[in-house]
Amino acid sequence: MADWQPRLSRRGFLTASGAALLGAVVAGSAGHVAAGAGSAQLGDFWLFGRYDDGCTDLGFDEIDLSPVQLPHCVTPLSWTGWDPASWQDRWIYRKHFTGSATERHTARFDGVMTNAEVHLNGRLVATHEGGYLPFEVELPDVVAGDNVLAVVVDGRWALDVPPNLPRGGPSVIDFYQPAGIYRPATVGAVPRIRLADVFARPVDVLSPGRSLHLTCTLDVPVVGQVTASVRQAGRELARGAAPVRGRTVEFDVGGLGGVRLWDVEDPALCDVVVTVEAGKRALDQRVVRTGFRDARFTTEGFFLNGRRLRLFGLNRHQWYPFAGGALPDRVQRRDAEILRRELNCTMVRCSHYPQSSAFLDACDELGLLVWEEIPGWGHVGDDAWQRRNLADVEGMVVRDRNHPSIVVWGTRVNEANGTTAMYQRTGQLARRLDPSRPTSGALASTTLGRFAGSDVEVLAYNDYTARRGTPFKLRPPRPGVPYLVTETIGTLAGARAYRRTDAPGVREQQAELHAKAHDLAAADDRYCGLLAWCAFDYPSGWQRSVDGVKYAGVSDIFRIAKPAAAFYASQGDPRVRAVAEPGFAWDFTAQPSGPGPGATIWSNCERLLLFLDGRPAGEARSRKGDFPHLRYPPFAADLAVPKGRRPELRIDGYAGGRLVVSRRFSGDRGADVLSCVPDDPELRSDGSDATRVVVAATDRFGTLRAATAGEVRLTLTGPGELIGDPVLDFGATGGAAAVWLRPSAGPPGTLALTATHDTLGSATATVRVTPNATRS
Ligand code: GAL
Repeated sequence: MADWQPRLSRRGFLTASGAALLGAVVAGSAGHVAAGAGSAQLGDFWLFGRYDDGCTDLGFDEIDLSPVQLPHCVTPLSWTGWDPASWQDRWIYRKHFTGSATERHTARFDGVMTNAEVHLNGRLVATHEGGYLPFEVELPDVVAGDNVLAVVVDGRWALDVPPNLPRGGPSVIDFYQPAGIYRPATVGAVPRIRLADVFARPVDVLSPGRSLHLTCTLDVPVVGQVTASVRQAGRELARGAAPVRGRTVEFDVGGLGGVRLWDVEDPALCDVVVTVEAGKRALDQRVVRTGFRDARFTTEGFFLNGRRLRLFGLNRHQWYPFAGGALPDRVQRRDAEILRRELNCTMVRCSHYPQSSAFLDACDELGLLVWEEIPGWGHVGDDAWQRRNLADVEGMVVRDRNHPSIVVWGTRVNEANGTTAMYQRTGQLARRLDPSRPTSGALASTTLGRFAGSDVEVLAYNDYTARRGTPFKLRPPRPGVPYLVTETIGTLAGARAYRRTDAPGVREQQAELHAKAHDLAAADDRYCGLLAWCAFDYPSGWQRSVDGVKYAGVSDIFRIAKPAAAFYASQGDPRVRAVAEPGFAWDFTAQPSGPGPGATIWSNCERLLLFLDGRPAGEARSRKGDFPHLRYPPFAADLAVPKGRRPELRIDGYAGGRLVVSRRFSGDRGADVLSCVPDDPELRSDGSDATRVVVAATDRFGTLRAATAGEVRLTLTGPGELIGDPVLDFGATGGAAAVWLRPSAGPPGTLALTATHDTLGSATATVRVTPNATRS
């Protein structure tokens, strides 16, 4: 928290300047503020604090509130040890805005955790329940000049709102949900008559006579005309129009034979520009994005555009260190990039709630298929809870039905009983709102028996048949119904906790389990595919969590790869990225004789040649016998090294008879360095952008040295804030961690983050902050 304290009422201060002009570092949007510039900042600030009597009143004294920017989490957090008591309370956010008495105004919230009450100028105008879906509030009594929107955010558990139940507390489900206005929000004037919704549904996609069925909904009845222009790559492909008399109109746009289909390898999108006119006057225009693709779950597997595609993927939770869910769009998008580009996933499951629109937009653009599901985890509540659950189905489908990446709706509560009648209701609602996608819902062994077969079209199973210590296996697909594995491994079939700091056996075995699971799913065409548990470690107080973190990811909570990520990295086309990634650490501290015989190397090459200190040391053997169905099975290398020697290892990978990758690994820890690398070189200066910086101990060739202890101290200069702990304990994080940099709204500049470690020295990451950085 900044130590800046204004001497006058914040209300007077903020309105006097028209926009906030703050004399020093402002309070962090999320997490700790460790450093920042002393420059003046202009921006879209909200005032924030703990709930207090009268805090929704127009004349409330705002002296004790802090200026914050959205997205925002109510409490500072570290990367571990989260304490739900720190967010389980009521909070107040106040926003001053200039209105005009003649215009229509609304406030739109993409996500507020968990319940919200919205007051305008001291009067309650709306309430909302549930933290994962957007809501928009009409602001009918805006006055000319200064107005105050006050939002009470209730982050307490006992709310009986899915996934919560009145009993228990935050640790009865397997993820923490810190409170806040944790996704973007906008307050302001909107057109009097609006296209409230446009659903653009591709029809007969595989036939040259394909068309687009449009359902347009206005928020006020209109007598006029709606036109639609379908564009791809900047060119209009087709156009259509229909008269409207009332609030909705449906029509088809044909002539789309020339459209490029959307596919995982070529995610070609279309823009649909919809305009509503009355007479010659345009009332509103809305652009929605869609993609033409045919996705089918069958008893012989999953088909995309008529071609069998093995669904290869992971589950994703949306939580980050230091900020909860409250990191800007660019950061949300980055997770999709990691899944698609680095881990070669063709599908992600948004477990266990609708995730940010920015993440889903990135999935559309990258060709990453999505399973999206309603909020819920293992429990079904009473009638009121079930009504909210039904409202979540509607909210999710209406928000997201234009995303081509989404191929199935999870309309059953994850691993929960609940009656067939209830699931028939949720499934039917989803199919009515979107006849183009099947419904499903992940079952556990305890709920499999309850599957009636009539409420969903895809049987999805969280397969923890294999228990730790037994040979890995999957349950055979259920005949007569499309079948998908929606979870496996995690901390149930895999290690109780899987960290870079764990013993070599644990690190290596988790990678083998992920490979085995995908190998078994690929062996039988009746599996549509397999989505393993999970992509990233996440905060949780549930079973097998350690100090508030569930270590189940193939990457850690900072999104830094653990050894199991190497298996995923190795399953991509070598022409795009040739991979030769040891499953072991080339480090003689813990293993003085090296990794020994049969050490695994994850690779998409055809041959791997080994060298020690530049001298040939044999060729690695393919492990195709162990993983017969993997596209790129790993290799085994015999790498016994006489005690006392610490040679350099070189792995040369060949594909198509050519050297495609050569990796070197140093055995000499004395030459290790500290690296400090941002994901993006440039950020926007509008206050709603951020990027990750990974700080890591590496050998001199850039490979992470997990077994590095010691503290790293961080200092930031420039116009922005550090979202992260200013001191990172490498001993606990396994030689690497990350923080996020968030520029302030205001003038451009350069952010410079310097990391310093006692023995590895210093490294600096610089990020330019400009008004025109590419939008995330
Ligand atoms: C599953 C559950 C997941 C996660 C996993 C444990 O039963 O669906 O959310 O808790 O167990 O690793």
